[in-house]
Amino acid sequence: MKIGLLTGGGDAPGLNAVIRAAVLAAVNRGWEVIGIRHGFAGLLGEPDIVPLTRAEVRGIAHLGGTILKTTNRGNPLCFPVRGVDGTVSEQDCTSELMENTRRLGIDALVAIGGDGTLGIALELVRRGLKIVGVPKTIDNDVSCTITTFGFDTAVNTAIEALDKLHTTAESHDRVLVMEVMGRHAGFIALHAGVAATADVILIPEIPYDIEKVCDKIRERDAAGKNFSIVIAAEGAYSKAEATGHSTLTMEHRPIRAGSVAEHLVEDIHEGTGKECRSLVLGHLQRGGMPTGYDRLLATRFGAAAISAVENEKWGEMVALQSPHLVTVPIEEVIRQEKRVDPSHDIVQAARATGISLGD
Ligand code: F6P
Repeated sequence: MKIGLLTGGGDAPGLNAVIRAAVLAAVNRGWEVIGIRHGFAGLLGEPDIVPLTRAEVRGIAHLGGTILKTTNRGNPLCFPVRGVDGTVSEQDCTSELMENTRRLGIDALVAIGGDGTLGIALELVRRGLKIVGVPKTIDNDVSCTITTFGFDTAVNTAIEALDKLHTTAESHDRVLVMEVMGRHAGFIALHAGVAATADVILIPEIPYDIEKVCDKIRERDAAGKNFSIVIAAEGAYSKAEATGHSTLTMEHRPIRAGSVAEHLVEDIHEGTGKECRSLVLGHLQRGGMPTGYDRLLATRFGAAAISAVENEKWGEMVALQSPHLVTVPIEEVIRQEKRVDPSHDIVQAARATGISLGD
């Protein structure tokens, strides 16, 4: 058996632990593994591959990033190709990808990625490739799995940052707004905000009213707590912005990193007169060592992916449905992205402890 392993989309802490576990689980079965660099794009043109043996994966479980590199621009279904006249057009390059896979003698692929990578994998399975998926994202927005590796690390990075912002906010009697990643989901903001006891948490699943945000800050000032900590997901938006738009439109609008923090600082200053500063945590959330939880989950996913290959679960993704690891059809996974349920107990815990959700 010869397996091809690839990582696609934005990186997430824990990718190397998945790679290590999958390689060892395969090698221990007497199988051969090759790594495909830069996601599915590494199977186009002259394949960008590396052999993966015990030696290549030694000592990498605790490292951030991915030894296989990744890209969020390598979709073989609409790959940018330069024509003879110099113009670039998007083309379906799947037949080239399938031919290269066959030529390399790859029997099955393990694709580690988020909804984008999983969607490509499903399409390739429909066209005849044998692929098993492993979910990856710091955003935790992949359906059918309780969580993904990388999320816990990102939340811990955000908590550490909030703890540090707390002291300086208090010294200066300021409002500090921190924007975190998550695309159109608010998991990182919610979990980090509750754990680090923020005063206001703004997530896309609960559009906010800026007046309510300012009320909370004024209320704290009136109680003698002259500083406030606001954490906002990059996809958060106000009720005013949403006026006249459907939830679907709001979900599909492009996200510009930093714009939520920028607007909130202006609006809060205008509404309360207080001095405000912002921090856009950005790609720090994607870097660094995975936490123990993420390393364990990634190792479980890597080993489970090889079992799934052994059991010929083509077109399925390994998933955590505690306490079990299961496989689920990718088709079901990508039907709908996961979002924070506004009635979830973590949202209730936030409200019960006096945190404002801005609604
Ligand atoms: O999906 C992961 C994620 O980190 C999002 O939270 C964020 O919006 C996006 O990727 C940023 O991607 P890029 O690598 O293009 O900056």
